[in-house]
Amino acid sequence: MSSKINKIAVLTSGGDSPGMNAAIRSVVRTCAYMKVECIAIYRGYQGMIEGDFKVMDARSVNNIINKGGTILKSARCDDFRTPEGRKKAHDELLKAGIDAFVVIGGDGSFTGAMVFNKEYNFPVIGIPGTIDNDIFGTTFTLGFDTALNTVVECIDKIRDTASSHNRLFFVEVMGRDVGHIALNAGVGAGAEEILIPEENLGLDRLLESLKRSKESGKSSSIVIVAEGDKSGKNVFELKEYVEEHLPIYDVRVSVLGHMQRGGAPSCYDRVLASRMGVKAVEALLAGKTSLMVGIQDNKLTLTPINKAIKGHTKIDKELIRVSEIMTT
Ligand code: F6P
Repeated sequence: MSSKINKIAVLTSGGDSPGMNAAIRSVVRTCAYMKVECIAIYRGYQGMIEGDFKVMDARSVNNIINKGGTILKSARCDDFRTPEGRKKAHDELLKAGIDAFVVIGGDGSFTGAMVFNKEYNFPVIGIPGTIDNDIFGTTFTLGFDTALNTVVECIDKIRDTASSHNRLFFVEVMGRDVGHIALNAGVGAGAEEILIPEENLGLDRLLESLKRSKESGKSSSIVIVAEGDKSGKNVFELKEYVEEHLPIYDVRVSVLGHMQRGGAPSCYDRVLASRMGVKAVEALLAGKTSLMVGIQDNKLTLTPINKAIKGHTKIDKELIRVSEIMTT
């Protein structure tokens, strides 16, 4: 253990995701176990700039493993993008005697951490927390599994009513830049079509596929649309387009929205968060920095934060094929 790290801070930053509380709990308890002081930073980098800190002990994180959201609050902070903002943050960290921090968040949060680390040589380790699963260097981000379960549960319910009325539903799910939620939940819920940013198959193909579905005797159809899909039309425009070109369909739209980010984390996310928190603290105490904890082949890994940000996650082609076969 490096003698330099005596006080570790933890913060959550960017869009929240289920499992963040479990990760906070893990960082705090690992610090207690290792006899290192732990400080919570509230409201992400904004709280770092303002010195919004609180001393944590093992009991400060009782009964939060099962809670969605983040007890530390989260924020997207423009001030931290400026050298002045980062200087203030550094001053506050020094004033509080903090030697290192663990940031739980997505690529925006990691970019901030990386810049800060370069400027001040300040030890930092990232834990990937986002429902989008769009971070390179980890097969799963915290919250992805829970969000998938939420989405599948919603689509199952939509299927009930869609089938009762022989309707077609366009269901919009989150995924600003990537289609991991759409593809996985689509396969899990038996969607007829899945529109994702990574593959634009065109509107003609969508019409053909919907026509085939109807002809094959399906009583309902669900088309999952990732927020960032590249068809050039949002879900409401897609509804109009299909109604115009395929009047055989009675179409409805459902936008799942931020409910996908809430709720109690799944067991998988709780376990993953617990493992990642331990690994993050251990890495800092071993003198490591500017790395992100990930999980690959069910083993915890450390990836340079700059790679995690710049590397692109790939959509699972095999899953696309499975989805195509399943919609026969
Ligand atoms: O957390 C990522 C994400 O879920 C994206 O898929 C979505 O576009 C975004 O958050 C919306 O977040 P907010 O409303 O907080 O800006």
